Amino acid sequence: MGDVVTMDDLTNDEIISILDSAERLLPVAKGDCLLPVLEGKVLANMFFENSTRTRMSFETAMKRLGGSVLNFSSVGTSVAKGETLYDTMKMIEGYADVAAIRHPRQGAAQYSADAVEIPILNAGDGAGNHPTQTLLDLFTIRQAHGSLEGLNVVLVGDLRYGRTVHSLSHALIRFGASLTLISPSTLRMPEEIVSDLRAHGAGINETDSLSDQIADADVIYMTRIQKERFPDEDEYAKVAGIYKLSVSDLAGAKEGMAVMHPLPRVDEIDPSVDSTDHARYFQQAFNGVPTRMALLCRSLGVDVPKKVK
Ligand code: CP
Repeated sequence: MGDVVTMDDLTNDEIISILDSAERLLPVAKGDCLLPVLEGKVLANMFFENSTRTRMSFETAMKRLGGSVLNFSSVGTSVAKGETLYDTMKMIEGYADVAAIRHPRQGAAQYSADAVEIPILNAGDGAGNHPTQTLLDLFTIRQAHGSLEGLNVVLVGDLRYGRTVHSLSHALIRFGASLTLISPSTLRMPEEIVSDLRAHGAGINETDSLSDQIADADVIYMTRIQKERFPDEDEYAKVAGIYKLSVSDLAGAKEGMAVMHPLPRVDEIDPSVDSTDHARYFQQAFNGVPTRMALLCRSLGVDVPKKVK
């Protein structure tokens, strides 16, 4: 109970409830008021792979709610001495009430969830899933459009290795989105995911051209080419820098169209986009705080008050 390893661990009603709680928690996330409902609780931030946003927003979320955080990384811990993931997680189970785990190996979050009794929140497992990112993505989309229903969402870039788009596509089709998947042929969304999306009745369009899709988009979700997941550097070089969105590309975009990116960006979005009304990616990164606050409360069985002031 309380694990979130993939978006399948949450019903649509639970997703909406987390987003609604996150909305109420916005003043706490910004530091405008105190709500120490997680006082005495400990979060273990288990990061076996690099992170800025996910690790720090989990930490901010926990601290803003009065809880405390144990920060783990593979450098400076007994992982360097050969300790297994299983043993590491069994230790953490005794030290913390909930754990967020990021790991380079797909399946590591589920493995951890099976190994321990405390709730496990998947903070990104290899090229697998990143459900807590999806929650903040959905929150950002709802802020931009007022609803999650029936949007035309364009996912661009590394759809093969990009775990954010794997989780997000699954969630979006449950709210009736149409998806356009834009990637070079070598980085297409894995066939099993596309088949699964289609089996759920989703309208899916796959192409390699971004410029044709901008005018009809409600959301353009850019992603980084995941250099670290390529087995061969020459293969990476063939696709590096393939999609770059700049302000001139947005001339025909709909008013209100949201440009998003899980970040970090390399060169997928030119800084000229940053000052447009379309740019949502920095707000999106901040939204990791209220959504992860809401998720931590859910995992720890703590109700978010109906009114937060
Ligand atoms: N979006 C995201 O997962 O960023 P980090 O890798 O910095 O956590």
